[in-house]
Amino acid sequence: MKFFSPLVNIVPLVVLGAAGAMAQSSDVVISAIQTFTSVSSSLATTVNDLSVVNFAIDGFEIVTGLGNITTAVTSFNAEFSSSTPAYPDDVAIEVVDVLTTFVEVHQQLLEIIIGKHSLAAQFFLTAPIAVALEALEAVVDTFAFGVIALIPTEEGPALAQVTALNVTFTQTITTYES
Ligand SMILES: *[C@@H]1O[C@H](CO)[C@@H](O)[C@H](O)[C@H]1NC(C)=O
Ligand SMILES: *[C@@H]1O[C@H](CO)[C@@H](O)[C@H](O)[C@H]1NC(C)=O
Repeated sequence: MKFFSPLVNIVPLVVLGAAGAMAQSSDVVISAIQTFTSVSSSLATTVNDLSVVNFAIDGFEIVTGLGNITTAVTSFNAEFSSSTPAYPDDVAIEVVDVLTTFVEVHQQLLEIIIGKHSLAAQFFLTAPIAVALEALEAVVDTFAFGVIALIPTEEGPALAQVTALNVTFTQTITTYES
């Protein structure tokens, strides 16, 4: 599976603190998306390793891991400015490219989380996971629309990605709410 690739660097979340102040720069936006991809990939590996043997001790990492991504995306969202000029199309294409990878990796993470539903139910963790998923969906949605506002020439392809991710989020949240 793709997210196990050792080529995906695990970029520490602290990097975003310094980067946030310049969210108008396309380099910063692209590296933020790549960072969110890396942390999603890392969490997917963590969640994939959860089993009946370790779930009692480590299962809550689903909640804290989702919360960590929510925190990082939230602080980045605060840096978007409506006065930032749109990126040229060549840069917009690059942004859609990294956004597409983010969506793929994030969908894999969500599918792995769906796969742990019965374990989570056994350990009474479905409710906190549902809450963490809802919080993450909300901030990722804000992030996606912040990014899309910067790339009007590629709005269609970017929106298609965000819509696809929304579908997977809805499936995951529905699974955990039931
Ligand atoms: C969440 O972030 C904290 C603080 O950086 C870290 O110690 C913890 O390992 C992270 N948890 C997961 C599951 O990523
Ligand atoms: C994703 O879903 C949320 C509600 O859950 C909605 O507000 C948002 O507009 C949707 N985004 C897209 C791109 O469909």
